[in-house]
Amino acid sequence: MEQTLVLVKPDGVQRGLIGEIIHRLERRGLKLKGLKFMQMTRELAGAHYEAHVGKPFYPGLVDYITSGPVVAMVWEGNSAIQIVRNTMGVTKPVEAAPGTIRGDFAVEIGRNLVHGSDGVESAAREVSLFFAPEELVDWQRDAERWIRE
Ligand code: RTP
Ligand code: MG
Repeated sequence: MEQTLVLVKPDGVQRGLIGEIIHRLERRGLKLKGLKFMQMTRELAGAHYEAHVGKPFYPGLVDYITSGPVVAMVWEGNSAIQIVRNTMGVTKPVEAAPGTIRGDFAVEIGRNLVHGSDGVESAAREVSLFFAPEELVDWQRDAERWIRE
């Protein structure tokens, strides 16, 4: 069973899209494990985006992600990482398919609304950056058998 870290980035919060983004992931059939509303420090942003240190867009990326509050969530399910990435749409909103979050609500890469972990290792690293183990909730979803065989 995979877990993945999702962020509603500051532009998603400011534009009133928290509910829309959660709604899409919830309806898709992923299971919510943890959720918090928070302001990222530059230190956390640096750890979260360590793969991008040194790239030309990195300083602007840290400014952006720390510019206002975010919603951090952990979603769980088989193939949760890929399901979230497909639901978000590709990084550049201009190329994102209609029906995806970025394809429906975003126009620029630097304001692309949402983050989702891009692999099993990054997901584990990112989940532990944002959540202590006891902040992830073990719960039984009664609809499970109507979502998964
Ligand atoms: P994310 O990590 O935020 O989920 O996005 P991603 O995997 O689709 O894209 P990634 O390559 O990891 O880039 C992280 C974020 O950096 C910003 N970015 N700007 N101006 C640029 O060329 C550029 N490239 C990346 C975007 O906000 C992207 O989501
Ligand atoms: Mg990424």
